[in-house]
Amino acid sequence: MTGALPGEVLVMGAGTIGCYIGGRLAAAGVPVTFVGRPRVLKKLADHGLSLSDLDGAKHHILPSALRLCEQVPVGAKPALVLLCVKSGATAEAAGELAFALPAGTTVVSLQNGISNSAAASHAGPSLNVLPGMVPYNVAEIGEGAFHRGTPGRLAAKDDVALRPWLPVFERAGVPIDLHEDLLPVQWGKLLLNLNNPVNALSGLPLREELMHRGYRQCFAALIDETLGVLGVSGITPAQVAAVPAQRLSSLLRLPDWLFRIVAARMLRIDAKARSSMADDLALGRRTEIDALSGEVVRLAQEHGLSAPRNARMVALLEAWPKQPERWPARRLQDALGL
Ligand SMILES: NC(=O)c1ccc[n+]([C@@H]2O[C@H](COP(=O)([O-])OP(=O)(O)OC[C@H]3O[C@@H](n4cnc5c(N)ncnc54)[C@H](OP(=O)(O)O)[C@@H]3O)[C@@H](O)[C@H]2O)c1
Repeated sequence: MTGALPGEVLVMGAGTIGCYIGGRLAAAGVPVTFVGRPRVLKKLADHGLSLSDLDGAKHHILPSALRLCEQVPVGAKPALVLLCVKSGATAEAAGELAFALPAGTTVVSLQNGISNSAAASHAGPSLNVLPGMVPYNVAEIGEGAFHRGTPGRLAAKDDVALRPWLPVFERAGVPIDLHEDLLPVQWGKLLLNLNNPVNALSGLPLREELMHRGYRQCFAALIDETLGVLGVSGITPAQVAAVPAQRLSSLLRLPDWLFRIVAARMLRIDAKARSSMADDLALGRRTEIDALSGEVVRLAQEHGLSAPRNARMVALLEAWPKQPERWPARRLQDALGL
């Protein structure tokens, strides 16, 4: 990489997002340490890290060039930490970072949901934690192989510590934009993530699920309910997708043939992409439903409202492990009162 590097990067939670974004930075010459679970690190140590995207980029990092750790190395001084664990693991991960790293270390939460950076700050008050947002979908497509299946630019709350990283992320192919207030961007992303539980229950790849009007109607109903709650709360969500959220929900309700034409750009998802919540269900892991629909339910309650459809999705996802089965669209529509 040409140009000065602001320092080293530490990926906390070497999973799908951590390996992809940290890997793109490493492929561009940034010194990156990956902290992760032994099962993931073993795959990386055996196969190296392969990265691809829908624009045709391909990178491979040899095992010998990867810095892999099971714990945050005590005494490390990364200039930037990318917090890439799932929401349920945030507090523990932030505690480990705060224990091992110097006070004031900048940590960007590249997690979905609204409250992860606050949870990390609470668990690691010595850290400079900033919220971030990943707009695209990344899937693990092989041993140590990660593929970005949708387009977009990263976002984070503006902070003086992040500005020197902008050209570095740009050159690495993971451009990032800074925002004075990230909350509207996070809600804009959360609106899109409301499809995650629908996708997970459908058991279908993302593109196939979105081609099915019944599932799209479920997604649209969750968006509409959330927009109502946001309106009362005085939050205007930022546009994260190709169209504003209000228009998205009308688009989603179109008949399949028309949706296929009108939403061609939105359907620029390759056949491999699926929501990570689907993977969580398949692997019997805790999902992030509480950080998505659960957040809508809590915001509604704060304003004396209810969000029954989002509450229903929380209940369905939490009940799924006891009765693991695919939900046909009609059954899901019935469950949401559609
Ligand atoms: N995947 C996507 O396309 C995508 C897109 C946008 C945003 N996001 C968001 O990005 C975040 C990460 O998602 P992901 O899909 O990358 O999750 P993931 O694949 O599960 O990766 C997280 C990894 O971190 C590990 N981990 C958890 N706590 C740790 C700790 N204390 N020390 C070391 N490793 C730890 C996890 O291990 P265990 O499983 O053992 O806990 C897991 O291997 C989520 O908030 C997600 O919503 C994901």
